[in-house]
Amino acid sequence: LTRVSKEKRVEFTIKAGSPEKLKSGCVVAGAYANGDLTAAARALDKACDGAIAAVLARGDLDDKAGSTLMLHDLAGIAAPRVLLVSLGKADELTDKTYRDAIGAAAKQLSGSVAGDASFCLAEAELPHRDLAWRLAQAAQILRDSTYRCDELKSKKEESKKGIKKLVFIVKGKDSESLEAAVLRGEAIAEGVALAKTLGNLPANVCTPGYLATTAKKLAKDHKIKVEVLERDDMEKLGMGSLLSVARGSHEPPKFIILNYKGGKAKDKPVVLVGKGVTFDTGGISLKPGEGMDEMKYDMCGAASVLGTFKAIARMELPINVVGLIPATENMPGGSATKPGDIVTSMSGQTIEVLNTDAEGRLILCDALTYAERFEPAAVVDVATLTGACIIALGNFTSGLLANDDELAAELLASGQAAGDKAWQLPLWDEYQDMLKSNFADIPNIGSKGAGTITAACFLARFTKAYKWAHLDIAGTAWKSGADKGATGRPVPLLTQFLIGRAGQ
Ligand code: BES
Ligand code: MN
Ligand code: ZN
Repeated sequence: LTRVSKEKRVEFTIKAGSPEKLKSGCVVAGAYANGDLTAAARALDKACDGAIAAVLARGDLDDKAGSTLMLHDLAGIAAPRVLLVSLGKADELTDKTYRDAIGAAAKQLSGSVAGDASFCLAEAELPHRDLAWRLAQAAQILRDSTYRCDELKSKKEESKKGIKKLVFIVKGKDSESLEAAVLRGEAIAEGVALAKTLGNLPANVCTPGYLATTAKKLAKDHKIKVEVLERDDMEKLGMGSLLSVARGSHEPPKFIILNYKGGKAKDKPVVLVGKGVTFDTGGISLKPGEGMDEMKYDMCGAASVLGTFKAIARMELPINVVGLIPATENMPGGSATKPGDIVTSMSGQTIEVLNTDAEGRLILCDALTYAERFEPAAVVDVATLTGACIIALGNFTSGLLANDDELAAELLASGQAAGDKAWQLPLWDEYQDMLKSNFADIPNIGSKGAGTITAACFLARFTKAYKWAHLDIAGTAWKSGADKGATGRPVPLLTQFLIGRAGQ
């Protein structure tokens, strides 16, 4: 059950060339609404004596960005196929429409027998985004589009379709910075793939121990050090809050510490903390049965930390990063924590566990206290923390709360650039008054309302020693319904943030 399927990976190169002369299975070129052509499409059109413009004039390609039309055997064009992709109106091109167009092209290519492709879409110009950004996004989306999770299907779908080689066609000379951009896109997609697979694996496979093994494997293949603390180590450290969540489970909890040292020895690290609840039943405050299978995704924060480590290690980013993953199940059981129980956190603060289903903050708070020993430049925790975040922001946007506005702004911009957006909610002192316990220092739930904010307020009681931000990914870490599956978010946001921190 631990084997990882060998997915077919598309290989990328960058070249300059005239689209009409390219001898690949398929040339991919962009067209704007109202029959306007990109430079590549214009060159192709000229070579085939206006056949493309004629087809567009008949209206066969929809104006909406992401519409596609496959043309075959055009006279004067070396490639047997031309995939036209609509970019929408030229002056309305945005990050989103660009990404939509790339995504649509990727989908067509993965269902085609073309074998290899020449890709001209990155020439499309959009405000504030350079060619390196456009190539990195394209590489990431194209690589991500071939992700499959069929490890646990007894019969794998064998397909002759899909692209094995893809050449990005650029004007002028291929440069090192463009190659680096494509490598970055690929590295992010690989990190996303790891996070998706960990999220998608069921809780009887992806246990705390499995997360620890995955971290160790990552350390073996890359320049990463890993240490795994066991229950007695955590007891010695006084992690009473974390351990109170693990009490109901037979599966041993793990505390995973990753260390990537790509920067100078004296550089303070960024610490990433990921919630690793491998299954959240709610504990004694049991969740309703409907859709409970999706609580296998409650370790997606941890998965995104592991995915981000994979991405930054692959791109050999010059920065120091520490990863902390408190991992446990949240189960009811004879020795499980009961509502009203009071536990002592590693920080010394006592916590009244009024609801055992608010377990994420109970494991994160001890990890956040542990983070202090690294004298971090900044700490970012990532967690599928509150259903309230889905009510507030839906499924497109992660929630962001921080005790430092500069750090918050940095993360918001990273999310924008990565196409993995977050939105800030307030962490004002007024909300702290919603956390009051008659019997302990703090309760683990707030009074009614603002559930995402009061959860962050709880965490804020443990993060006073450093600059800290919290990402609530309850709405963005996975999709429900027919497309059920992990998204790998926020690996792109986190990796982009670290790229920025590394000064690159
Ligand atoms: N893992 C859940 C949050 C969650 C719920 C994420 C649904 C995605 C979808 C978390 O542990 C939890 O149960 N939170 C409670 C907190 C409440 C008891 C204060 C919630 O949001 O209902
Ligand atoms: Mn819960
Ligand atoms: Zn949970």
